[in-house]
Amino acid sequence: MTDVSIIGAGVTKFGNRQDVSYRELMAESVAEVLRTIDTEILPNNFDGLFVAAGQPELLNDQANVANLAAQVVGATPSLISRVEMACSSGSVAFRQGWMAIKSGLADMVLVMGIEKMTQNMKAASKGLCIVPDVEYESIHGITAYSGFALIANQHMKEHGTTKEQMSMVAVKNHHNGAKNPKAHFYEMGEITLEKAMNSRMVSEPLNLFDCSPISDGASAVILTKSEIARKFTDQPIKILGTAQGIEPSMGISNMSSITEWKALKQAANSAYRMAELSPSDIQVAETHDCFSIAEIIEYEDLGFTAKGMGGKFIEDGESHLDGSLPINTSGGLKAKGHPIGATGLAQITEIVSQLRGQSGKRQVNDVEIGLTQNLSGFATHHVVNIFGK
Ligand code: COA
Repeated sequence: MTDVSIIGAGVTKFGNRQDVSYRELMAESVAEVLRTIDTEILPNNFDGLFVAAGQPELLNDQANVANLAAQVVGATPSLISRVEMACSSGSVAFRQGWMAIKSGLADMVLVMGIEKMTQNMKAASKGLCIVPDVEYESIHGITAYSGFALIANQHMKEHGTTKEQMSMVAVKNHHNGAKNPKAHFYEMGEITLEKAMNSRMVSEPLNLFDCSPISDGASAVILTKSEIARKFTDQPIKILGTAQGIEPSMGISNMSSITEWKALKQAANSAYRMAELSPSDIQVAETHDCFSIAEIIEYEDLGFTAKGMGGKFIEDGESHLDGSLPINTSGGLKAKGHPIGATGLAQITEIVSQLRGQSGKRQVNDVEIGLTQNLSGFATHHVVNIFGK
């Protein structure tokens, strides 16, 4: 079977994008991805188009968005669909594109991710409350932040993780986001530990700076067969490993453990196995820091540090831009923003840019191997991808 490579990856400016309509935001992501490719690609070159979009019906009164994307691109792909898997929609769509090429059904695939959340903040809040299990949990007051607050409290109890360590994740990610002009909070610049720790409480122990924001944005990636990738770019990026993991659990109350994510370990182990690599081979990573505690658990369950040592990992500066394993160089969901459908592909775009040496002030030196990890629900579903030059 053929190997698959990325030949282009781009993101729009994230943040409050009331300056553009939904279709204009889609078009902007297409323009961004095409700018990262050396050779002209025509709309009819795409025989696959997958569009990740979480909740356009609720947020933007627009359904059938894959068809809209085909119109925006001017493409007539024989494989086309919308993909929805909450916050991991982008990474799942990416895997659909990878599978389409791997199976021989497509030669060139455009994968797009989009969410325009600030158009209707009331709907956006509702949207975040209906991702958890509505029948058993949301009805009792569980939201994204109160669920992750339970996770944070339990991790603090089991492993001695501190509020200060969680705030350090935010300080690091805003430090990186201040170097990324596309980031939602680029203009905010760096933040101090005091500012992070003293911000208003959202759900004990998570305060404002422990949370990712509600954002608008889009991202796009173009995939093709590795054997023809160099026709389009001098710097194709190979997909070395890709895997999903899921727990048979929709809510937080019946997860096997809320502090040790079984589905993440499953996805990570499968991706490492496919890539024939181990955690110590990863040189840069984008992980799903929807809440600061998530990034700390991800250090552990991706195998970057031992169980319970995630707090120490950030405190020792290991995941800083100049640390042993820089994580969320883009600013992460915390500072770059989290437009649900766009997030997974934006993570991939950052790793592509790092591997190509195009990340400007946030570039990590001499990176050859990078990883992305994207979750949905209360960490019951994960996608892990590993990329190489
Ligand atoms: N971090 C830092 N600042 C934030 C922020 C965040 N996460 N969210 C909002 N702000 C800032 C805004 O920029 C704004 O600043 P300004 O007054 O200088 O313009 C101010 O706080 C008020 O913004 P507002 O949108 O009114 O805040 P809010 O209280 O309605 O929302 C949260 C704050 C944290 C509740 C909201 O961002 C949220 O729900 N985040 C979680 C999103 C989520 O769950 N995603 C899915 C994850 S799985």
